[in-house]
Amino acid sequence: MIDPLLEALPPRVPLARLPTPLEPSPRLGARLGVELLYKRDDLTGLELSGNKARKLEFLVADAEARGADVLVTCGGVQSNHCRATAFAAARRGLGCVVLLRTPDPAAPPAPEANALLDRLAGADVRFVSHAEYRRRAERMAEVAAELEARGRAPYVIPEGGSNALGSLGYVVAMAELRDQLPAAWREGPFTIAYAAGSGGTGAGIEVGVRAAALAGAAPLGLAVCNDAEYFREVIATICAEARRRWPALPAVDAAEVRVEGGFVGPGYGETTPEGLEIVRRAAREDGVLLDPVYTGKAMLGVAGLAARGALPSPRVVLLHSGGGFGAFPYARLLAP
Ligand SMILES: Cc1ncc(COP(=O)(O)O)c(C=O)c1O
Repeated sequence: MIDPLLEALPPRVPLARLPTPLEPSPRLGARLGVELLYKRDDLTGLELSGNKARKLEFLVADAEARGADVLVTCGGVQSNHCRATAFAAARRGLGCVVLLRTPDPAAPPAPEANALLDRLAGADVRFVSHAEYRRRAERMAEVAAELEARGRAPYVIPEGGSNALGSLGYVVAMAELRDQLPAAWREGPFTIAYAAGSGGTGAGIEVGVRAAALAGAAPLGLAVCNDAEYFREVIATICAEARRRWPALPAVDAAEVRVEGGFVGPGYGETTPEGLEIVRRAAREDGVLLDPVYTGKAMLGVAGLAARGALPSPRVVLLHSGGGFGAFPYARLLAP
């Protein structure tokens, strides 16, 4: 089903280096009691843009088809998505405005890690308070109107690039994964564990496993903020929107979407001793860089559920969605 379906999807611009490798965990997986494969989407390129590179291939193609000359998006101050968008814009010769959420825009944070890279790539960085960020769609529309008044042609990308179009990046990724799986895994069951931050990756995975007829795959989102119910709804909504726009895509029932909310810790961007420890262990035992905000929480979820025998299957593909720059703001905690 998926191959004619892939041809029917909208065009993409080449931003990601694909296929990304599927690699066994040398040690950590066995220690956690799982057979672990990393899907190395941290290696999509675009200056380490991880999962965002796949989404941006579709989003930037749409922007260009509409004649846009500047991308507008938003996220937290260390947003991987904003940084990825800034580099995608630079790569394509487009402008970029990023709205970054910070407690006090009058006292902006130091330009470090992703917040530095946004500027390095030439993005127009604007800080907004948490209260303003709650109305981010309106704030981005205001920025777009301001740009239009100056003769520019803006294209607004939602938080995380997580809309129906962006999610198609992970529909394509599931076809790629199907072709890479060891023969013994194809019939399943196996878990596909991923970090859920704004839901687009999860939506693409849910649609993609159905489209690729990966019947044995059990997607498992590990929430990095909010709770499981929130993500089930967000993911199902994006899947429904994708099907409305491209009716050949399979349907996804919210009740079938599995997300675990028990590994968020104190909140988004906040961590725990266990969360830091799993990042250290992945680095030391597997030579793989995770980050405390996204992939570290996904791995923590795999470890925690494995220990309770609660994984859909102990054969696990962990989507390494990138985010390595997100380790730097935690330097003192990671290596005290
Ligand atoms: C490194 C990394 N992994 C995972 C995610 C989560 O993906 P999504 O926002 O599509 O849920 C994000 C962004 O939110 C991210 O930056």
